[in-house]
Amino acid sequence: MAISRHRLLFLLLLLLLRAFSSLPAQAAARGASDPSGTGENFGSVLRNLLQDDPRITDELTHGYMSNSELEIAVRAVGSRCPNISRIYSIGKSVNGFSLLVIEISDKPGEKEAEPAFKFIGNVHGDEPVGREVLINLANWLCDNYLKDPLATLIVENMHLHILPTMNPDGFALRRRGNANNVDLNRDFPDQFFPINDEIDYRQPETRAIMNWVKQEHFTASASLHGGALVANYPWDGSRDQSKQYYGCPDDKTFRYMASVYSKSHYNMSLSKEFKGGITNGAFWYPIYGGMQDWNYIHGGCFELTLEISDIKWPKAAELPVIWEHNRMSMLNLAASLVKTGVHGRIFAADTGHPIPGSLTIKGIGSEIRASRTYGDYHRMLAPGENYEVIASMEGFRTKATRILLEEEAVSLDFILDPGEASGEVKMLRNDCGCLCGDDRLFHMHGAHLELYLFVFLIIIALYVLFKRRTSKFTIHRHSPRRPIAV
Ligand SMILES: *[C@@H]1O[C@H](CO)[C@@H](O)[C@H](O)[C@H]1NC(C)=O
Ligand SMILES: *[C@@H]1O[C@H](CO)[C@@H](O)[C@H](O)[C@H]1NC(C)=O
Ligand SMILES: [Zn+2]
Repeated sequence: MAISRHRLLFLLLLLLLRAFSSLPAQAAARGASDPSGTGENFGSVLRNLLQDDPRITDELTHGYMSNSELEIAVRAVGSRCPNISRIYSIGKSVNGFSLLVIEISDKPGEKEAEPAFKFIGNVHGDEPVGREVLINLANWLCDNYLKDPLATLIVENMHLHILPTMNPDGFALRRRGNANNVDLNRDFPDQFFPINDEIDYRQPETRAIMNWVKQEHFTASASLHGGALVANYPWDGSRDQSKQYYGCPDDKTFRYMASVYSKSHYNMSLSKEFKGGITNGAFWYPIYGGMQDWNYIHGGCFELTLEISDIKWPKAAELPVIWEHNRMSMLNLAASLVKTGVHGRIFAADTGHPIPGSLTIKGIGSEIRASRTYGDYHRMLAPGENYEVIASMEGFRTKATRILLEEEAVSLDFILDPGEASGEVKMLRNDCGCLCGDDRLFHMHGAHLELYLFVFLIIIALYVLFKRRTSKFTIHRHSPRRPIAV
């Protein structure tokens, strides 16, 4: 019984090819219309979304900030409002453009027991509206602190991080992908397909976001896109790649958050295409390797993907109107981190010190972490329901409390006694399968281990089959190849 080395290699190659072909097509876009082209006027739009649009002329780009003008605008916010802002970089694009963030807070750069929100614009290079409105947002907050109650609430009670462009190279090239022509919203590790698991092979822009999310303790976030008018929420992909509603454990809360955005918008909620102006990602069209799902799974960060303009690259003259249409949405979404949900701190009873415990809600298979410094947690939750809130930490006895969460935020601290964690939460943790603390990447690999095992078993099965055939062939054809013993 023997098989040639070539055949084995061929077999492995075949399997690899199959594995890759089973990967989702790098389909249209978050930032595009339905790729099935249901609406009549979508067809033409879509074709221009899939390819880079040659109609982005110099005339069209006129009135938009160039990358260097954007950097000047970012730094101008910093110098105009130094007391409530900080400018920092999270890395560099392929072509070396600094990915600058404006942090807005009354104590920028300092750790506080407050939630953090991030806005990311221009993920796709040819969707430049986000970068423009984010500069407007930063300036508006800078101008209205202590004048407008919402501005004051945001500045004083949370940390708002604004990255106007994630893809400056794509913007300069007037195309969707980055300088390596990689779609950054397909470049994150995916929960269903181990396509992007190796961080070293991620694009520098993607890596910058991943490291940023690991450093900062974001409660929620939103990325801004163009090509439709809708607030999109996880999951972005379905397990079997079919176009279907695929809700994540926090589906209710995500629908609530997406509705906060769409209802505060000038006319997003009036959409004929999307009920209430919101959509589940996989229901719209599944994508894999997106930023939104990755944030939720690995950062415990509730991220939305916001499509804020039907036209990806409108005339610059329309930007002030688009900003006005989105202003209250952006403010209300950020402020919802303070105004709604359950917030508190977790302490150790013996030392009185804050501890980075985990927080779960009975019946919801997800987990968020309290911060290391202050033990503060910020749990977004759909209002109007009873919840059992459970705090746990390795080496401490788990505690649970029932609350009625109405429209306003609930404040709830936990003091945990040293001891054995009860089994209840351990089970919950297993249920969640993904949102599991600081070493979440490890858990993800764990999930993929099944996949690898499955592939391995197939290889073995195919090998056995092949071996039989090969030996038959060998008999019939008297293969001259030197067989190797296996
Ligand atoms: C910044 O804060 C300091 C001290 O509170 C104050 O004196 C100063 O006027 C503030 N500057 C601005 C630009 O608000
Ligand atoms: C919203 O308003 C804009 C600007 O007036 C318009 O172009 C768009 O069609 C409207 N969308 C909906 C869903 O009403
Ligand atoms: Zn997009």
